[in-house]
Amino acid sequence: MKNKRLITVIALILIYLTGTFIYETVKEPSRPSSTNEKEKTVVGVLQFVSHPALDEIYRGIKDGLKESGLEEGRNLEINFQNGQADQSKLATMSQQLVQQDPDVLIGIATPAAQALANTTSSIPLVLGAVTDPVGAELVQSMNKPGGDITGVSDQPPIEAQIKLATEILPEAKKVGILYASSEDNSRYQVTQAEEAAKKAGLTSVKYAVPSTNEIAQTVQVMSQAVDFIYVPLDNTIANAMQTVVKEANKAQIPVIPSVDTMVEQGGLATIGINQYDLGVQTGKMAASLANGKEPASTPVYVFDEGTVIINEEQAALLGITIPDKIKEEATMVTETKEEEE
Ligand code: TRP
Repeated sequence: MKNKRLITVIALILIYLTGTFIYETVKEPSRPSSTNEKEKTVVGVLQFVSHPALDEIYRGIKDGLKESGLEEGRNLEINFQNGQADQSKLATMSQQLVQQDPDVLIGIATPAAQALANTTSSIPLVLGAVTDPVGAELVQSMNKPGGDITGVSDQPPIEAQIKLATEILPEAKKVGILYASSEDNSRYQVTQAEEAAKKAGLTSVKYAVPSTNEIAQTVQVMSQAVDFIYVPLDNTIANAMQTVVKEANKAQIPVIPSVDTMVEQGGLATIGINQYDLGVQTGKMAASLANGKEPASTPVYVFDEGTVIINEEQAALLGITIPDKIKEEATMVTETKEEEE
């Protein structure tokens, strides 16, 4: 009896040991795959804030990476952070992203790129839609960036935009330029817009808002003083475009923004660069830097042409007839009215 029990115990122990041995052996082959993970490219992305243009750019970035053979869930890991327009968040998020030691970093919009640039000077950084990389002190020159930073600029065709405004609004004499005083990217474009206005025979007045809180009131004031409102590539204004349009519409004052997405949000018309395309270009550049291309000698990519975009609903609302000549080559958009009224 005793023997039988002993044999059973020994048998059970043997079964257990064999089982564990087989289990361990089977498990073994999964190990080398963790070395394969090293083959993964890690990209850190910091977006300044959420507004339709920047969201489109990020969508484009993912597709640009994909077109370059980098796909999430396969050989790509994206660490994404959104700073929600908060400087201290941008700084902490930059640190977190850098600590993850990515192959390449992407900053979407000037303040995000600046935060990343302040945090590292060894990881390559791609500028995603930075209007004026030289003025924002991110690169030495557009052709030879010189450091660990290069990218894509979204400098808009400002002169053509002002000219388009005067063609659509031949009676206009005075333009009000609306922007946030905190954004380096706007400062550059505002100076250019003033010159372009002068060239087109218009007088211009600048209206700088210190923060989002002053936008509604500023638009009310300027609507009494100008014939149309021009908006540069300003993130603060893009983020509050609905308020701008609502207030301007009350006074029947057209808004000429700098980008397609802001026409979709209720701007009248513009000549602009497609935001998604901007993102695709940024994604492709990030992929090539992750592959070892030198940022210092990679010129900043600049788009040389935009497309005419018109919001017909706004035109109708404001009682403006768009000349046929302009209509012919324009893309018509219908409003993505979210919470109008
Ligand atoms: N160019 C802006 C910057 O440098 C970012 C930006 C891209 C933007 N597309 C936009 C801002 C559209 C307003 C609207 O920060």
